[in-house]
Amino acid sequence: MNISIILAAGEGTRMKSRVPKVLHKVCGKPILEYVIDASIDAEVEKNIVIIGHGGEKVQEYFKEQPIIFRKQPIGEEFPYGTGFAVKQAIDLIEDDSTVLILYGDTPLITKDTVNKFIQFHKEEKNHGTVLTAILEDTTGYGRIIREDGGNISRIVEHKDSSPEENLIKEINSGIYCFDGKLLKYALEQIDNNNSQGEYYITDVISILKDKDYKVGAYIINDSIEIHGINSKVQLAFSESVMKARINEKFMEDGVTIIDSDNTYIESTVEIGTDTIIYPGVTIEGNTIIGDNCIIRSGTRIKNSIINNNVAIESSLIEDSSIDEESKIGPNAHLRPNSHIGKNVKIGNFVEVKNAFIGNNSKAGHLSYIGDATIGQNVNIGCGVIFVNYNGKDKFHSTIGNNAFIGSNSNLIAPVEVKEYGYIAAGSTITKDVEEGALSIARAQQRNIAGWVERKGKKL
Ligand code: UD1
Ligand code: MG
Repeated sequence: MNISIILAAGEGTRMKSRVPKVLHKVCGKPILEYVIDASIDAEVEKNIVIIGHGGEKVQEYFKEQPIIFRKQPIGEEFPYGTGFAVKQAIDLIEDDSTVLILYGDTPLITKDTVNKFIQFHKEEKNHGTVLTAILEDTTGYGRIIREDGGNISRIVEHKDSSPEENLIKEINSGIYCFDGKLLKYALEQIDNNNSQGEYYITDVISILKDKDYKVGAYIINDSIEIHGINSKVQLAFSESVMKARINEKFMEDGVTIIDSDNTYIESTVEIGTDTIIYPGVTIEGNTIIGDNCIIRSGTRIKNSIINNNVAIESSLIEDSSIDEESKIGPNAHLRPNSHIGKNVKIGNFVEVKNAFIGNNSKAGHLSYIGDATIGQNVNIGCGVIFVNYNGKDKFHSTIGNNAFIGSNSNLIAPVEVKEYGYIAAGSTITKDVEEGALSIARAQQRNIAGWVERKGKKL
């Protein structure tokens, strides 16, 4: 059985945040979730997360996932260090298991690397394997000490290293594989006899080595994968790497992204071929976009379904759907539960909420359409308002096929305009309108001849 122990009890003070470090998001997903996903994808059957500061929030966030949480006691009276953290899970480690140790703050680690690493550990028949990297700037990292034959013998922390050891460019990523039984044995041996007074998991390597067990090192291909997050600057770095990875995948699948650096698409999104995404677009959550769409700058789409050949210009679309050939924006807002049919136009400054709009209908300018069912071929003139709220309750309106709603009309819900109903501009409609009827509901115009001159106001 493969077990993973993911360390996430560190305080994360350098984030200067009230949010636990591992819950900060990279491309819309918490840092820790990437690590958990890589672990689960690499066929680890038992995933244990060691939590500390803010642990309740972390546990709450992941309560639906198959994870075992262990709380590391934190405070002056308790020991500290990666070794002490791993020890919190000691009773969950089976003798014949392979234990993978990961950090909860390294979201760039891939399933591919985790897989290869576990495979290497098993093929080499190692009792302990450490994932290492060759770095130019080794500040703060543990150094990998190899014996004359080239085999790893121990790991020395930067703070504990000699001037010669300091020059070593191969560092400890903090990711390990251990034989379950031997890890438990070694965890009982480690002490805090070092410059930081901490229990180091790194000591397990030398403890096993000294007992003639087989330890090895696996050098990672791309050291970016072990980049940990301790500050908002490092968070932004991980975001940029993840964003590039996600966007590259979309481009490889045939999506045109004009300026990848300025395009924010979450990994949960699906996009069809030949859709063009302009700079400054954000696409989030469970959004599905079809083929041949054009999504122009300043658009944000969240949890929505956009069918083929739709064009959207600088608009906000949330929890809604849009059928083929429709055009949205500029500056439209589809609020939750808006369903836009085929070849519909929702134009400048139009807000739609909880509404169904039938095929070939148009609302080109400055309207509010809330709580409504609108048929096909309906024309909603400029400035039409669906008056759906009386200050206490919301009411629904229905507009039949081929109806015409003149500009600047108010439809006081609940109200129905039947098929071919025709509302004169400027009307305030409070009663249902029968099929094919014209409805005018506005004060009649009076023209008073000579009035201005009589009042002496003529210039
Ligand atoms: C550790 C390694 C070092 C390695 C480096 C890679 C040790 C002794 N040193 O150093 O060789 O090069 O990682 O980044 O292991 N954590 C807990 N509980 C604790 C202490 C830490 O959960 O009591 C977690 C932290 O949240 C963090 C991870 O363990 O995710 C690493 O801890 P950190 O203090 O950053 O270790 P380093 O001193 O940087
Ligand atoms: Mg550190």
